[in-house]
Amino acid sequence: MNILGVSAHYHDSAAALVVDGVPVAAVQEERFSRRKNDASFPLAAIEWCLDHAGLAPENLDAVVFYERPLLKFERILTSALRAFPKGRGAFAHGMKNALGEKTWVRGNICAHLGVPGRKVLFTQHHQSHAAAAFLTAPSDAAAIVTADGVGEWATLSVGRGERRGGAVEMSLLREVRYPHSLGLLYSTFTEYLGFAVNEGEYKVMGLAAYGRPTFAAEVRRLVSRTKDGAFALDLGFFDYHVSVAHSYSRKFLELFGPPRGRYDPIDLETDEGRRFADIAASVQLVLEEVLLDLATALARETGLPDLCLGGGVALNGVANSRILAETGFERLLVPPAPGDAGCALGAALYADRLHFKNPDREAVDHPFLGPSVDPAELVRLGREDDYPVEMLDERALIAHTVQDLQAGRIVGWMDGCMELGPRALGHRSILAAPHDAAMRDRLNRDIKYREEFRPFAPVVPIEAAADYFELPPGGARLGRYMSGVFKVKAKHRKRLAAVTHVDGTARVQVLERAMEPRLHALLTAYGRASGLPVLLNTSFNLAGEPIVNKVAEGYSTFRRCGMDVLVAGGARMLKPALATAELKEAYA
Ligand SMILES: [Fe+2]
Repeated sequence: MNILGVSAHYHDSAAALVVDGVPVAAVQEERFSRRKNDASFPLAAIEWCLDHAGLAPENLDAVVFYERPLLKFERILTSALRAFPKGRGAFAHGMKNALGEKTWVRGNICAHLGVPGRKVLFTQHHQSHAAAAFLTAPSDAAAIVTADGVGEWATLSVGRGERRGGAVEMSLLREVRYPHSLGLLYSTFTEYLGFAVNEGEYKVMGLAAYGRPTFAAEVRRLVSRTKDGAFALDLGFFDYHVSVAHSYSRKFLELFGPPRGRYDPIDLETDEGRRFADIAASVQLVLEEVLLDLATALARETGLPDLCLGGGVALNGVANSRILAETGFERLLVPPAPGDAGCALGAALYADRLHFKNPDREAVDHPFLGPSVDPAELVRLGREDDYPVEMLDERALIAHTVQDLQAGRIVGWMDGCMELGPRALGHRSILAAPHDAAMRDRLNRDIKYREEFRPFAPVVPIEAAADYFELPPGGARLGRYMSGVFKVKAKHRKRLAAVTHVDGTARVQVLERAMEPRLHALLTAYGRASGLPVLLNTSFNLAGEPIVNKVAEGYSTFRRCGMDVLVAGGARMLKPALATAELKEAYA
């Protein structure tokens, strides 16, 4: 059975294909359109998924959209009527969106793909998140929490999933509904702190490490706890349900002071800069408190050792690590794409297991479901432009790259199939030596063009992870997809300065050989040569651009920035000046 999952029209569209119960392709539209977080109908992603599997649209048994557009429409309408007359702006905006493509999704899918309407199915938004988390996790029984800004009505759901004798069950225990939302609470502070909503949330998390939670009492006034362990927002502090201008209200500004302008620098040496950092630390702390309470109660209620976490809030690695360490769950399983892009895969899997009741299959426990890299393309491009490029066997490639990294060179590393989700986990990465803070500053200045308070992440083989990072039980699993933030061991912080955040932590990727053998071999060889089997690993893109997909995009990025070496599969390319220096050295 061939099932296509689609997420679109809000943020970060994607398509995913499940064939006979197994995910065979999944990719975000932005990787083709080259528009970051592209929300348009993912035609290119769908076309690639079908091509990859050798299918035509008529071979599809079902196309599953990741949410119910009419329920979302109802939420917008009802909220606007409740807020009337204050909410006229939000109403008009919401109606325009909802009456546009969102409501006519079925017709759109039929028109674009030529499939009959009866083949188009819908899941609920949080069902898709829950399925993306549980049905991709190697767990037979788990508690499930999903949390994001908002789907149709739900903003947080709590449930459980079970696999038994080839059958799957997923049940919802309870949910929190719009306008009460942890995601929107965090996004409101994201906007207040001058960052782009839906994109800048991790900047708030990065900034939080520089502050102290001196505004925690104020933030707690915004979120009260309900008897069932959930929460409710004091809506007087928010405007997102009645306005499209700002998420925060006048009352919010009276409590926290003037907001930061989008283009104002954050100077942590000034009172104003520290105030923003303290506010970031405070909202981060309160988010953690709510999630910890909720997860602790759920661990007690279900008695299950595993918790699967989905939705955009699951990208908060600092909160994730505390959930793992403090709530009683033994494992916290966060998929590589917990946000809306992953919902395309979640929706397809949900339909396969729960709508069609197909037998369960072993979970695909890696993120490499996108297009693959062709090294011959890099060789061809290099020869056309007279750029020094060569094909190397595995051993020579690893040896050269170790030398490059030891010499302080920045390496673009493309290999195999592209990752689904926002994180580069070794197939579309930029790698560099992790020792020196100057490397971090150089990457920020010459390649990523971004704020200094955002840390870079390390990658380490699982065998060596506990030597360098303070991993609690279950920490290596949480680090599989870079979903946790852990302390760097104090004695190694100086030698890991480029990847250690100001508070002594790192968002480490813990790599198992089976998931990515070549990167594992590189780390091991680098460890033998340098005494430290750790590399800096950041996504292969420039600021404001999506992660590179094809070799040609990697090559174009390589030429436009201060990267020294580009590797695509077995092909290695150098900047011409470097190649000349290398030749001189060889003949000296
Ligand atoms: Fe979502």
